Amino acid sequence: MRTIVITGGTDGIGRALAAHYLRAGERVVVVGRSRQKFDALQQETGGDARFIQADLSLVREIERVVAELQQYERIDALVLAASYVRYKRAETEEGLEHQFALFYLGRALLVRGLADRLGTVVNLVVPGAPKDAIQWNDLQLEKDYTWKRTNLQFRRANELLAVDLPIHVRYHRHSPGFVRTSFAGDVDGLARMGVNVLVRVLGTTVDKAIRPIIALIDDDDRAEATRLRQETARIVEGVRSTGRTP
Ligand SMILES: NC(=O)c1ccc[n+]([C@@H]2O[C@H](COP(=O)([O-])OP(=O)(O)OC[C@H]3O[C@@H](n4cnc5c(N)ncnc54)[C@H](OP(=O)(O)O)[C@@H]3O)[C@@H](O)[C@H]2O)c1
Repeated sequence: MRTIVITGGTDGIGRALAAHYLRAGERVVVVGRSRQKFDALQQETGGDARFIQADLSLVREIERVVAELQQYERIDALVLAASYVRYKRAETEEGLEHQFALFYLGRALLVRGLADRLGTVVNLVVPGAPKDAIQWNDLQLEKDYTWKRTNLQFRRANELLAVDLPIHVRYHRHSPGFVRTSFAGDVDGLARMGVNVLVRVLGTTVDKAIRPIIALIDDDDRAEATRLRQETARIVEGVRSTGRTP
């Protein structure tokens, strides 16, 4: 049985993934805010579902989640899908810009804090932000906040997160495209209407959206990579000792 941790596993894409892996007989640890939503998921799927109730925009809560997850010797997959879009700048009660806290800091602290036991990470964030997207002199965007600016900044930060992870962690950034979910967030009238129309017209279903994510989690090349490393060592050793391929 694998252990799969899913942030934002109470709704949308994260929930659909949680349901898939629970039905497949895996242990799934859901991290989210709503116990009610988790209870509904558990009733629907049964299986080894566990819940950590937490607000992943708060450092003290993220650190508690990391500490609770230390009970698992190995976390085969960590899916980062917690999402709450804020078009207007807002601060968490710890004084951080909310989108920076939820979409970057929450994810970074989880990945770094659990790196020693992680197999695969799938970070549901749109890849491909410009290299100058981080506002180094105004990380909290106090002077000039726009949703586009915070969005590009956290996307770039999630790219940089991949760069200095231990080599054993398979880190994927994955854009699910437009998916018909609740798009939870604080988005005002007109923008909300626009998003709803776009999602209805162009959006795909969560069941379709989770297929490539499942492929990333299940398609583990490690056994073949180990075999190739061993075979390479055997060839090189043979050439060293006999001057020829064994
Ligand atoms: N849907 C799309 O078209 C789309 C497009 C591009 C990228 N994505 C990415 O895909 C991922 C999933 O998106 P989605 O549309 O499936 O999301 P969603 O349906 O809006 O669900 C959001 C999830 O995040 C949790 N959440 C929100 N704020 C939280 C907080 N402060 N602490 C902990 N959990 C929190 C919610 O849990 P509670 O309800 O329990 O609070 C819920 O489970 C996100 O990373 C999103 O950026 C989605």
